[in-house]
Amino acid sequence: MGHKVRAVVAKAKGEPVTIETIDVPDPGPGEALVKVQACGVCHTDLHYREGAINDEFPFLLGHEAAGIVESVGDGVTEVAPGDFVILNWRAVCGECRSCRRGRPHRCFATHNATQKMTLDGQELSPALGIGAFAQKTLVHAGQCTKVSPDAKPEVAGLIGCGVMAGLGAAMNTGEVGRGDSVAVLGCGGVGDAAIAGANLAGAHTIIAVDLDDKKLEWAKEFGATHTVNASSEDVVERIREITNGDGADVVIEAVGLPQTYEQAFYARDLAGTVVLVGVPNPEMKIELPLIDVFGRGGALKSSWYGDCLPSRDFPMLIDLYLQGRLDLERFVTETINLEDVEEAFHRMEAGEVLRSVVVL
Ligand SMILES: NC(=O)c1ccc[n+]([C@@H]2O[C@H](COP(=O)([O-])OP(=O)(O)OC[C@H]3O[C@@H](n4cnc5c(N)ncnc54)[C@H](O)[C@@H]3O)[C@@H](O)[C@H]2O)c1
Ligand SMILES: [Zn+2]
Ligand SMILES: [Zn+2]
Repeated sequence: MGHKVRAVVAKAKGEPVTIETIDVPDPGPGEALVKVQACGVCHTDLHYREGAINDEFPFLLGHEAAGIVESVGDGVTEVAPGDFVILNWRAVCGECRSCRRGRPHRCFATHNATQKMTLDGQELSPALGIGAFAQKTLVHAGQCTKVSPDAKPEVAGLIGCGVMAGLGAAMNTGEVGRGDSVAVLGCGGVGDAAIAGANLAGAHTIIAVDLDDKKLEWAKEFGATHTVNASSEDVVERIREITNGDGADVVIEAVGLPQTYEQAFYARDLAGTVVLVGVPNPEMKIELPLIDVFGRGGALKSSWYGDCLPSRDFPMLIDLYLQGRLDLERFVTETINLEDVEEAFHRMEAGEVLRSVVVL
Protein backbone atom coordinates (compact mmCIF):
# COMPACT_ATOMS: atom_id res chain seq x y z
CA MET A 1 0.00 0.00 0.00
CA GLY A 2 2.78 2.41 0.87
CA HIS A 3 2.96 5.65 2.80
CA LYS A 4 3.02 9.31 1.81
CA VAL A 5 5.31 11.28 4.14
CA ARG A 6 6.97 14.69 4.30
CA ALA A 7 10.70 14.72 3.68
CA VAL A 8 13.72 16.92 2.91
CA VAL A 9 14.99 16.47 -0.66
CA ALA A 10 18.04 17.91 -2.46
CA LYS A 11 16.98 18.05 -6.11
CA ALA A 12 20.03 19.61 -7.75
CA LYS A 13 23.63 20.46 -6.99
CA GLY A 14 24.02 23.45 -4.68
CA GLU A 15 20.31 24.31 -4.69
CA PRO A 16 18.41 24.84 -1.44
CA VAL A 17 16.67 21.73 -0.17
CA THR A 18 12.88 21.51 -0.37
CA ILE A 19 10.15 19.81 1.60
CA GLU A 20 8.36 17.21 -0.51
CA THR A 21 5.75 14.53 -0.09
CA ILE A 22 7.46 11.26 -0.96
CA ASP A 23 6.27 7.68 -1.33
CA VAL A 24 7.66 5.06 1.04
CA PRO A 25 6.79 1.42 0.30
CA ASP A 26 5.74 -1.09 2.94
CA PRO A 27 8.70 -3.24 3.97
CA GLY A 28 9.53 -6.23 1.80
CA PRO A 29 11.66 -9.23 2.82
CA GLY A 30 14.54 -8.17 5.07
CA GLU A 31 13.34 -4.56 5.30
CA ALA A 32 11.99 -2.37 8.12
CA LEU A 33 9.81 0.74 8.07
CA VAL A 34 10.90 3.18 10.77
CA LYS A 35 8.95 6.09 12.20
CA VAL A 36 11.71 8.67 12.58
CA GLN A 37 11.68 10.57 15.88
CA ALA A 38 14.87 12.62 15.52
CA CYS A 39 17.62 13.18 12.95
CA GLY A 40 20.77 15.30 13.35
CA VAL A 41 22.12 17.57 10.60
CA CYS A 42 25.59 16.23 9.71
CA HIS A 43 28.07 18.01 7.45
CA THR A 44 27.87 14.99 5.14
CA ASP A 45 24.25 15.96 4.31
CA LEU A 46 25.58 19.29 3.11
CA HIS A 47 28.30 17.48 1.11
CA TYR A 48 25.50 15.54 -0.64
CA ARG A 49 23.59 18.73 -1.44
CA GLU A 50 26.80 20.26 -2.82
CA GLY A 51 27.24 17.29 -5.17
CA ALA A 52 30.52 16.47 -3.41
CA ILE A 53 29.63 12.80 -2.74
CA ASN A 54 28.14 11.79 -6.11
CA ASP A 55 25.70 13.01 -8.77
CA GLU A 56 22.79 10.71 -7.97
CA PHE A 57 20.23 13.48 -7.39
CA PRO A 58 17.55 13.73 -6.07
CA PHE A 59 18.83 12.89 -2.60
CA LEU A 60 16.64 12.15 0.38
CA LEU A 61 18.83 13.70 3.07
CA GLY A 62 19.30 12.84 6.76
CA HIS A 63 21.15 9.86 8.21
CA GLU A 64 21.81 10.50 11.92
CA ALA A 65 18.57 9.20 13.31
CA ALA A 66 16.63 7.33 15.94
CA GLY A 67 13.05 6.14 15.84
CA ILE A 68 10.55 3.37 16.37
CA VAL A 69 10.18 0.35 14.10
CA GLU A 70 6.67 0.53 12.64
CA SER A 71 6.58 -2.68 10.62
CA VAL A 72 8.96 -5.31 9.26
CA GLY A 73 9.03 -7.49 6.15
CA ASP A 74 9.19 -11.27 5.82
CA GLY A 75 12.12 -13.01 7.45
CA VAL A 76 13.06 -10.16 9.78
CA THR A 77 13.97 -11.49 13.22
CA GLU A 78 16.47 -8.97 14.60
CA VAL A 79 13.92 -6.19 15.25
CA ALA A 80 10.16 -6.03 15.78
CA PRO A 81 7.47 -3.32 15.62
CA GLY A 82 7.74 -1.03 18.66
CA ASP A 83 11.52 -1.38 19.10
CA PHE A 84 13.47 1.84 19.70
CA VAL A 85 16.38 1.85 17.26
CA ILE A 86 19.29 3.93 16.04
CA LEU A 87 19.71 3.75 12.26
CA ASN A 88 23.14 2.72 11.02
CA TRP A 89 24.89 2.80 7.66
CA ARG A 90 26.85 -0.38 8.30
CA ALA A 91 24.45 -3.33 8.11
CA VAL A 92 27.13 -5.98 7.69
CA CYS A 93 26.69 -8.70 5.08
CA GLY A 94 28.60 -11.50 6.81
CA GLU A 95 29.75 -12.83 3.45
CA CYS A 96 32.15 -10.38 1.76
CA ARG A 97 35.90 -10.94 1.82
CA SER A 98 36.28 -8.63 4.82
CA CYS A 99 33.44 -10.20 6.86
CA ARG A 100 34.79 -13.67 6.07
CA ARG A 101 38.16 -12.67 7.50
CA GLY A 102 36.55 -11.61 10.79
CA ARG A 103 36.49 -7.88 10.04
CA PRO A 104 32.78 -7.05 9.80
CA HIS A 105 33.52 -3.46 10.88
CA ARG A 106 35.10 -3.07 7.44
CA CYS A 107 32.31 -4.87 5.54
CA PHE A 108 32.51 -4.04 1.81
CA ALA A 109 28.93 -5.04 0.92
CA THR A 110 26.69 -3.46 3.54
CA HIS A 111 22.94 -3.87 3.19
CA ASN A 112 20.36 -1.19 2.33
CA ALA A 113 16.65 -1.50 1.56
CA THR A 114 16.02 -3.16 -1.81
CA GLN A 115 12.87 -1.20 -2.64
CA LYS A 116 13.17 2.48 -3.53
CA MET A 117 11.49 5.48 -1.96
CA THR A 118 10.23 7.82 -4.69
CA LEU A 119 9.22 11.41 -5.43
CA ASP A 120 6.58 11.68 -8.18
CA GLY A 121 7.68 8.29 -9.44
CA GLN A 122 11.38 9.22 -9.55
CA GLU A 123 13.73 7.11 -7.40
CA LEU A 124 15.35 8.93 -4.49
CA SER A 125 18.93 8.30 -3.35
CA PRO A 126 18.80 8.16 0.46
CA ALA A 127 21.86 9.76 2.10
CA LEU A 128 24.16 6.95 3.25
CA GLY A 129 21.39 4.51 2.43
CA ILE A 130 19.17 5.93 5.19
CA GLY A 131 17.26 9.12 4.25
CA ALA A 132 15.83 10.09 7.64
CA PHE A 133 14.80 13.73 7.26
CA ALA A 134 11.39 12.15 6.74
CA GLN A 135 8.47 11.15 8.89
CA LYS A 136 9.10 7.52 7.93
CA THR A 137 11.96 5.82 6.14
CA LEU A 138 12.54 2.38 4.66
CA VAL A 139 15.81 0.63 5.54
CA HIS A 140 17.27 -2.86 5.65
CA ALA A 141 16.42 -4.43 9.02
CA GLY A 142 20.17 -4.74 9.72
CA GLN A 143 20.34 -0.94 9.64
CA CYS A 144 18.24 -0.84 12.82
CA THR A 145 20.23 -1.19 16.03
CA LYS A 146 18.04 -1.71 19.07
CA VAL A 147 19.06 0.34 22.13
CA SER A 148 17.58 1.24 25.50
CA PRO A 149 14.39 3.31 25.11
CA ASP A 150 15.52 5.32 28.16
CA ALA A 151 17.70 7.42 25.82
CA LYS A 152 16.11 10.51 24.29
CA PRO A 153 15.76 10.19 20.48
CA GLU A 154 17.48 13.54 19.77
CA VAL A 155 20.67 12.40 21.47
CA ALA A 156 20.50 8.70 20.57
CA GLY A 157 20.33 9.51 16.86
CA LEU A 158 23.67 11.31 16.96
CA ILE A 159 25.39 7.98 17.62
CA GLY A 160 24.15 6.90 14.19
CA CYS A 161 26.79 9.03 12.45
CA GLY A 162 28.83 11.98 13.72
CA VAL A 163 29.34 10.97 17.33
CA MET A 164 30.23 7.39 16.38
CA ALA A 165 32.52 8.60 13.60
CA GLY A 166 34.42 10.90 15.96
CA LEU A 167 34.56 8.63 19.01
CA GLY A 168 35.57 5.69 16.83
CA ALA A 169 38.22 7.72 14.98
CA ALA A 170 39.95 8.18 18.34
CA MET A 171 39.15 4.90 20.10
CA ASN A 172 39.10 2.40 17.21
CA THR A 173 41.03 3.76 14.22
CA GLY A 174 43.54 5.93 16.13
CA GLU A 175 43.81 3.41 18.98
CA VAL A 176 44.28 6.23 21.45
CA GLY A 177 45.42 4.86 24.79
CA ARG A 178 46.34 5.90 28.31
CA GLY A 179 48.91 8.68 28.39
CA ASP A 180 48.75 9.52 24.67
CA SER A 181 48.83 13.05 23.32
CA VAL A 182 46.08 13.72 20.79
CA ALA A 183 45.31 16.70 18.55
CA VAL A 184 41.95 17.13 16.83
CA LEU A 185 41.68 19.49 13.83
CA GLY A 186 38.12 20.77 13.38
CA CYS A 187 35.83 20.90 16.41
CA GLY A 188 32.37 20.36 14.95
CA GLY A 189 30.19 17.47 16.10
CA VAL A 190 32.65 14.92 14.71
CA GLY A 191 35.79 16.56 16.10
CA ASP A 192 34.27 17.07 19.54
CA ALA A 193 33.23 13.43 19.60
CA ALA A 194 36.87 12.54 18.82
CA ILE A 195 37.88 14.70 21.79
CA ALA A 196 35.33 12.92 24.01
CA GLY A 197 36.65 9.56 22.72
CA ALA A 198 40.28 10.50 23.42
CA ASN A 199 39.19 11.54 26.91
CA LEU A 200 37.35 8.25 27.54
CA ALA A 201 40.39 6.33 26.27
CA GLY A 202 42.68 8.02 28.81
CA ALA A 203 44.64 10.49 26.66
CA HIS A 204 46.90 12.76 28.69
CA THR A 205 46.96 15.82 26.44
CA ILE A 206 44.07 16.69 24.10
CA ILE A 207 44.61 19.66 21.79
CA ALA A 208 41.57 21.15 20.04
CA VAL A 209 42.16 23.14 16.83
CA ASP A 210 39.51 25.26 15.09
CA LEU A 211 39.12 28.66 13.44
CA ASP A 212 36.43 29.74 15.85
CA ASP A 213 36.90 30.62 19.52
CA LYS A 214 33.36 29.54 20.40
CA LYS A 215 34.06 26.07 19.00
CA LEU A 216 37.26 25.93 21.04
CA GLU A 217 35.36 26.79 24.23
CA TRP A 218 32.88 24.00 23.50
CA ALA A 219 35.77 21.61 22.80
CA LYS A 220 37.04 22.16 26.34
CA GLU A 221 33.70 20.97 27.68
CA PHE A 222 34.31 17.62 25.94
CA GLY A 223 37.77 17.24 27.46
CA ALA A 224 40.24 19.35 25.44
CA THR A 225 43.19 20.32 27.66
CA HIS A 226 44.61 22.88 25.21
CA THR A 227 43.20 24.92 22.33
CA VAL A 228 44.74 26.41 19.18
CA ASN A 229 42.99 28.97 17.00
CA ALA A 230 44.09 28.13 13.44
CA SER A 231 43.10 31.54 12.11
CA SER A 232 45.72 33.33 14.21
CA GLU A 233 48.24 30.67 15.28
CA ASP A 234 50.62 28.32 13.48
CA VAL A 235 48.91 24.97 14.06
CA VAL A 236 51.93 22.69 13.61
CA GLU A 237 54.23 24.87 15.70
CA ARG A 238 51.69 25.23 18.55
CA ILE A 239 50.97 21.50 18.70
CA ARG A 240 54.71 20.82 18.84
CA GLU A 241 55.17 23.40 21.61
CA ILE A 242 52.37 21.91 23.70
CA THR A 243 53.88 18.43 23.28
CA ASN A 244 57.44 19.34 24.39
CA GLY A 245 58.58 19.93 20.82
CA ASP A 246 57.64 16.39 19.72
CA GLY A 247 54.20 16.49 18.08
CA ALA A 248 51.12 14.51 19.09
CA ASP A 249 50.93 10.70 19.14
CA VAL A 250 47.62 10.76 17.28
CA VAL A 251 46.31 13.63 15.12
CA ILE A 252 42.71 13.44 13.95
CA GLU A 253 41.68 15.50 10.92
CA ALA A 254 37.93 16.23 11.19
CA VAL A 255 37.59 18.95 8.53
CA GLY A 256 38.33 17.30 5.17
CA LEU A 257 40.75 19.76 3.53
CA PRO A 258 44.24 19.29 2.06
CA GLN A 259 45.73 22.04 4.23
CA THR A 260 44.42 20.58 7.47
CA TYR A 261 45.56 17.11 6.39
CA GLU A 262 49.05 18.50 5.81
CA GLN A 263 48.99 20.15 9.23
CA ALA A 264 47.94 16.84 10.77
CA PHE A 265 50.75 15.07 8.94
CA TYR A 266 53.44 17.41 10.33
CA ALA A 267 51.90 17.93 13.78
CA ARG A 268 52.30 14.29 14.78
CA ASP A 269 55.29 12.81 16.56
CA LEU A 270 57.65 10.42 14.78
CA ALA A 271 55.90 7.06 14.40
CA GLY A 272 52.62 8.79 15.23
CA THR A 273 49.26 8.23 13.60
CA VAL A 274 47.16 10.52 11.39
CA VAL A 275 43.46 9.69 11.19
CA LEU A 276 41.47 11.30 8.36
CA VAL A 277 37.79 11.40 9.27
CA GLY A 278 36.85 14.64 7.44
CA VAL A 279 35.45 13.95 3.96
CA PRO A 280 37.33 15.64 1.07
CA ASN A 281 35.65 16.41 -2.24
CA PRO A 282 36.77 14.51 -5.36
CA GLU A 283 38.83 17.44 -6.74
CA MET A 284 41.11 17.77 -3.71
CA LYS A 285 44.74 16.68 -3.99
CA ILE A 286 47.66 16.58 -1.62
CA GLU A 287 51.37 16.65 -2.33
CA LEU A 288 53.86 15.51 0.31
CA PRO A 289 57.60 14.80 0.08
CA LEU A 290 57.77 11.01 -0.09
CA ILE A 291 60.87 11.13 2.09
CA ASP A 292 58.72 12.63 4.87
CA VAL A 293 56.08 9.94 4.46
CA PHE A 294 58.86 7.38 4.82
CA GLY A 295 61.10 9.17 7.29
CA ARG A 296 58.46 10.11 9.82
CA GLY A 297 57.18 6.54 10.04
CA GLY A 298 53.92 5.72 11.77
CA ALA A 299 50.53 5.30 10.18
CA LEU A 300 48.30 7.32 7.86
CA LYS A 301 44.78 6.00 8.31
CA SER A 302 41.30 6.88 7.12
CA SER A 303 38.33 6.28 9.36
CA TRP A 304 34.93 5.43 7.92
CA TYR A 305 32.25 5.55 10.57
CA GLY A 306 34.87 5.23 13.30
CA ASP A 307 35.52 1.60 12.31
CA CYS A 308 32.42 0.83 14.32
CA LEU A 309 30.31 -2.28 14.54
CA PRO A 310 26.86 -0.86 15.32
CA SER A 311 25.57 -3.95 17.16
CA ARG A 312 28.62 -3.87 19.43
CA ASP A 313 29.15 -0.12 19.84
CA PHE A 314 25.74 1.64 19.83
CA PRO A 315 24.27 -0.08 22.92
CA MET A 316 27.59 0.41 24.74
CA LEU A 317 27.66 4.16 23.98
CA ILE A 318 24.01 4.52 25.01
CA ASP A 319 24.90 2.84 28.32
CA LEU A 320 27.81 5.27 28.84
CA TYR A 321 25.39 8.13 28.16
CA LEU A 322 22.75 6.78 30.57
CA GLN A 323 25.45 6.33 33.22
CA GLY A 324 26.45 9.98 32.82
CA ARG A 325 29.89 9.18 31.40
CA LEU A 326 29.31 10.45 27.85
CA ASP A 327 27.57 13.81 27.62
CA LEU A 328 25.61 13.41 24.40
CA GLU A 329 23.23 16.25 25.26
CA ARG A 330 26.07 18.75 24.94
CA PHE A 331 26.23 18.02 21.19
CA VAL A 332 22.67 19.25 20.65
CA THR A 333 22.79 23.02 20.10
CA GLU A 334 19.16 23.24 18.97
CA THR A 335 16.16 21.14 18.03
CA ILE A 336 14.39 22.14 14.81
CA ASN A 337 11.61 21.13 12.39
CA LEU A 338 11.96 19.49 8.98
CA GLU A 339 11.36 22.91 7.38
CA ASP A 340 14.46 24.32 9.08
CA VAL A 341 17.13 22.04 7.55
CA GLU A 342 18.24 24.55 4.88
CA GLU A 343 18.63 27.22 7.55
CA ALA A 344 20.54 24.72 9.73
CA PHE A 345 23.03 24.20 6.86
CA HIS A 346 23.71 27.95 6.87
CA ARG A 347 24.19 27.95 10.63
CA MET A 348 26.56 25.00 10.30
CA GLU A 349 28.59 26.87 7.68
CA ALA A 350 28.63 29.96 9.87
CA GLY A 351 29.96 27.84 12.75
CA GLU A 352 27.01 28.62 15.03
CA VAL A 353 26.04 25.05 15.92
CA LEU A 354 27.50 21.71 16.88
CA ARG A 355 24.37 19.82 15.96
CA SER A 356 20.94 20.99 14.90
CA VAL A 357 18.60 18.05 15.41
CA VAL A 358 15.29 17.68 13.58
CA VAL A 359 12.64 16.39 15.98
CA LEU A 360 9.52 14.87 14.42
N1 LIG B 1 34.49 9.54 8.06
C1 LIG B 1 33.24 9.46 8.49
O1 LIG B 1 32.73 8.36 8.73
C2 LIG B 1 32.44 10.72 8.72
C3 LIG B 1 31.20 10.69 9.36
C4 LIG B 1 30.52 11.89 9.59
C5 LIG B 1 31.06 13.09 9.14
N2 LIG B 1 32.26 13.08 8.48
C6 LIG B 1 32.90 14.31 8.00
O2 LIG B 1 33.58 14.93 9.10
C7 LIG B 1 33.73 16.33 8.81
C8 LIG B 1 33.24 17.14 10.00
O3 LIG B 1 31.84 16.97 10.15
P1 LIG B 1 31.00 17.86 11.19
O4 LIG B 1 29.60 17.41 11.07
O5 LIG B 1 31.69 17.86 12.51
O6 LIG B 1 31.17 19.29 10.49
P2 LIG B 1 31.11 20.78 11.10
O7 LIG B 1 30.92 21.67 9.94
O8 LIG B 1 30.13 20.80 12.24
O9 LIG B 1 32.56 20.98 11.74
C9 LIG B 1 33.70 21.29 11.02
C10 LIG B 1 34.60 22.18 11.93
O10 LIG B 1 35.83 22.39 11.26
C11 LIG B 1 36.21 23.74 11.51
N3 LIG B 1 37.16 24.14 10.47
C12 LIG B 1 36.90 24.50 9.17
N4 LIG B 1 38.05 24.81 8.54
C13 LIG B 1 39.06 24.63 9.44
C14 LIG B 1 40.46 24.81 9.39
N5 LIG B 1 41.08 25.20 8.27
N6 LIG B 1 41.17 24.53 10.50
C15 LIG B 1 40.56 24.12 11.65
N7 LIG B 1 39.23 23.96 11.75
C16 LIG B 1 38.49 24.21 10.66
C17 LIG B 1 34.90 24.51 11.50
O11 LIG B 1 35.04 25.75 12.18
C18 LIG B 1 33.98 23.54 12.23
O12 LIG B 1 33.98 23.76 13.63
C19 LIG B 1 32.93 16.57 7.52
O13 LIG B 1 33.81 16.56 6.43
C20 LIG B 1 31.99 15.38 7.47
O14 LIG B 1 31.56 15.09 6.17
C21 LIG B 1 32.95 11.93 8.28
ZN1 LIG C 1 30.60 -7.93 4.56
ZN1 LIG D 1 27.00 11.94 8.98
